[in-house]
Amino acid sequence: MTKKVYIKVFGCQMNVRDSEVICGLLEKAGYGLTDSPDKAGIILFNTCSVRQHAEDRVWSEIGRHKDGKIIGVLGCMAQNYKEKIFERAPNVDFVVGPSDIDKVPGIITRVCRYKLPDKAHSLNEAKIWETGGEKRTGDIYHTGFYADKDHAFVVISEGCSNYCSYCVVPYVRGEIRHRMSRDILKEIEEALDKGITKVTLLGQNVNAYSDGEVNFVKLLQLVNRMKGLQEFSFITSHPKNTAVDLFKAMAELEKLKKYLHLPLQSGSDRILKLMNRGYSRKFYLDLIEEYRKIVKKAVLTTDIIVGFPTETEDDFRDTYDALKGVEFDCAYIFKYSPRTHTEAEKLDDDVVKKDKEKRHKLILELQKEISRRKKCENTF
Ligand code: SAH
Ligand code: SF4
Ligand code: F3S
Repeated sequence: MTKKVYIKVFGCQMNVRDSEVICGLLEKAGYGLTDSPDKAGIILFNTCSVRQHAEDRVWSEIGRHKDGKIIGVLGCMAQNYKEKIFERAPNVDFVVGPSDIDKVPGIITRVCRYKLPDKAHSLNEAKIWETGGEKRTGDIYHTGFYADKDHAFVVISEGCSNYCSYCVVPYVRGEIRHRMSRDILKEIEEALDKGITKVTLLGQNVNAYSDGEVNFVKLLQLVNRMKGLQEFSFITSHPKNTAVDLFKAMAELEKLKKYLHLPLQSGSDRILKLMNRGYSRKFYLDLIEEYRKIVKKAVLTTDIIVGFPTETEDDFRDTYDALKGVEFDCAYIFKYSPRTHTEAEKLDDDVVKKDKEKRHKLILELQKEISRRKKCENTF
């Protein structure tokens, strides 16, 4: 059996970066990588649980591989379903959660041993799952593997402690953990030495960053100073942790892109409260007014959820009007999807499919027109 590994990634940039980390660890352990599932003996799915649709895509992809290859499910669905994955997808050999990715090469070695046809092994048919890890070891970020030779994603914090009522991320990624700034800077330095010139700092809530001594704005200042770096940016920001000091830093730091992704989620105060977002519509609108005042030629993008439980036509209008008034360069519009573990799951998902679809379409059309006018193509 060939030992080449193919990895398919679903979900957010965090998963894209985690896939690179896994590739780096696998290369170090002597495994070859391939872009083609046909040439691979081992297929890894790095998965996302954020909406039902994301999970459905993964289940159907897994179902397509019934040809005796070794199959591993990693990432947020692994953490969400743990060993239950084997019940729904018996062709899966192992399951590894986001905090256990350092164990992937060792697990593959074990599975390869029992799957070899000429060796009757006591582990035969055994399934392996590792989802109990709480913390990643810092060294996994230093393999030097970046898919893009010019650009690096650099994780600054893992997990999220915001518990927005609709969101599964805190349950599958755990509470927020901040990497030490010296470790982050070391990783960037190593990347720059390899010829990388652009960096994106990653976290589910980057503005909350603090390692005890260095906060987010200070971190931006330190990164801006790095020799060889041409440009950098960050995602994702949370409105409740965003303030004028960030905008001032964005205006001053010459290498920092004038780009802010600031999810609004809803324009209705009642829904924002039910979502546990921690800000009001007015707070958000005042914030971006400051942003546009302080940062010249500033780009602004957002995320919106339509059809949250109890959302009325009036609530929806508030969101629609907010988008119309703000004129985001781009907006990512999602239909509410109930998630296990979350607070909102306890509420009745009472906005009927037809209304969710109608609201989704209306906002998409509005935003398409705005994005076209503002020449932003990156919308869906
Ligand atoms: N930490 C980031 C990204 C979280 S996931 C943030 O706070 O913005 C990306 C987006 O998916 C969210 O901003 C939200 O708009 C959407 N999302 C999350 N959970 C969802 C759910 N249950 N149903 C529909 N959309 C959801
Ligand atoms: Fe989810 Fe909210 Fe955390 Fe974003 S900030 S990851 S939406 S809990
Ligand atoms: Fe999805 Fe996990 Fe990212 S649920 S959005 S891949 S943190």
